[in-house]
Amino acid sequence: MKSIFVTGGAGFIGSHTCLLLLEKGFTLFILDSFVTSSQKSLKRVSLILSNKGIDIKGKIYLVEGDIKNKYDIERVFKMSFELNKIIKSVIHFAGLKSVAESVKNPFLYWENNVNGTINLLKVMVKFNCKNIVFSSSATVYKAKSNVPLFENDICEPFNPYGNTKLTIERLLKDIYNSDSSQWRIASLRYFNPVGAHESGLLGEDALGKPNNIYPLITQVAIGKIKEIKIFGSDWPTVDGTGIRDYIHIMDLAEGHFAALDYLLKEKPQFLTINLGTGIGTSVLELIRCFEKVNNIEIPFSFDNRRVGDNAFVVADNSLAKKILNWNPKRNIDDICRDGWNWQLKNPNGY
Ligand code: NAD
Ligand code: UFG
Repeated sequence: MKSIFVTGGAGFIGSHTCLLLLEKGFTLFILDSFVTSSQKSLKRVSLILSNKGIDIKGKIYLVEGDIKNKYDIERVFKMSFELNKIIKSVIHFAGLKSVAESVKNPFLYWENNVNGTINLLKVMVKFNCKNIVFSSSATVYKAKSNVPLFENDICEPFNPYGNTKLTIERLLKDIYNSDSSQWRIASLRYFNPVGAHESGLLGEDALGKPNNIYPLITQVAIGKIKEIKIFGSDWPTVDGTGIRDYIHIMDLAEGHFAALDYLLKEKPQFLTINLGTGIGTSVLELIRCFEKVNNIEIPFSFDNRRVGDNAFVVADNSLAKKILNWNPKRNIDDICRDGWNWQLKNPNGY
C-alpha cells in the first residue's frame, strides 16, 4: 500500500501533499504535464526533506506526461510493476482550474478534466487499482446565504470548470456502483486553499497575474501590483465584502493523507467530503489580518461585484472531522504569515 500514483503532483496542492506523503514514507509516482507548474516545485520538496535529514532516494519517480494520453498513464503503472513497487492508490490532482478560462474555452476544460479522468480510471481498471482520492471543489455547490455548506446540499455549478468537477464526481459514483465491492473513492471538495509551507521554500507559483484574492494580496505586498480591487462593498455580510473559507495548504495536504488512510483501512466505499475550516473570513478581514501579522500596508479600493461571485462560501466540515479524524490546525494568522514568508523568499516564484 506504500506506492501512490499522484497526477498533477508538481502543482500547488499536489506539491505540498507530495511533501507530506514522502515524510510519511510513501513512494510516489508523479505524472505531470507541467501545463501550469514546473519541476522546480518538486526540487524544493526534495530540498526541504533533505534539510530535515529525510532520504527519499528510490521514493519519488517523476514522469512528464499528460492524462489526456492513456499511454502516459500506462507508462507510470508499468514502471511501478517493473520496479516491484506496485501502485495501489491514486491521488488525482491533475486538472485545469481557471473559472474565467473555462468560460472562454469549455472544450479545453472538458477534454482535460473529464476525458483525462476517464483515461485515468480506465487504466486503473486495467491495472486493478481501485483506490482513488479526487480533487473536487466547493464550486460544485449552489450558493446559500450565510450558512455553511453540507456535502448533501444541492449542487449546481454555474461555470464550465464547476461542471467538469461535478461531472467527474458523478462519473466516480457510477464507477463505484459498477463494482462496489472493490472501489474505494473519495471526492474531496476543497474550499479556498491558500498559504504556503512553513519553510517558505514551497508555495503557490501563480504563473502570470493571479485572479484569486490571496496571491493578489502577497503580490501587492511585494510591490508587483499596486492595489487590491475589492469586488463589491455591498454584500450582505459583516462588512459588505465577500466571505470565504480559507484553508492552509498544509492542513489541506493533511486532509488528503487522512482520506487515503481512512479509505485503505475501511471497507470499499464512496465518500464526498468537504475540506474547509468552517470559519468564514471577509476580504477586508483577510487584508487587515495580513497587514497586522506582517506589518505591511495593503492598499485597496472598491470595485463592482464580480460576475458569478457569492456573498458567503464556508464549509460545514463536521463530516471530515468525524470520519477522517482530521482537524485543521492552522488559523488565518498562520496563513498570512506563511504565505508572506514564501512570497518574500521567492518574489518571482520558483
Ligand atoms: P495547479 O494548477 O497548481 O496544479 C494542477 C497540476 O496538474 C499542475 O501541475 C498541472 O501541470 C497538472 N496538470 C493539469 N492538466 C494536466 C494533464 N492533462 N496531464 C497531466 N498533468 C496535468 O492547481 P492546484 O491548485 O494545485 O489544483 C489541484 C487540483 O485541485 C485541480 O484539479 C483543481 O481543479 C483542484 N482545486 C483547486 C482549488 C484551488 O483553489 N487551488 C480549489 C478546488 C479544487
Ligand atoms: N476578490 C476580490 N478581488 C479580487 C479577487 C477576489 O475582492 O481581485 C474577492 C472575491 O470577490 C471573493 C473573495 O475575494 O469574495 C475570494 O475570491 P477568490 O477569487 O480568491 O476565490 P473564489 O472563492 O471566488 O474561488 C476559489 C477558486 C475557485 C474554486 C472556489 C471554491 O478560484 O476555482 O474557490 O470555492 F472553485
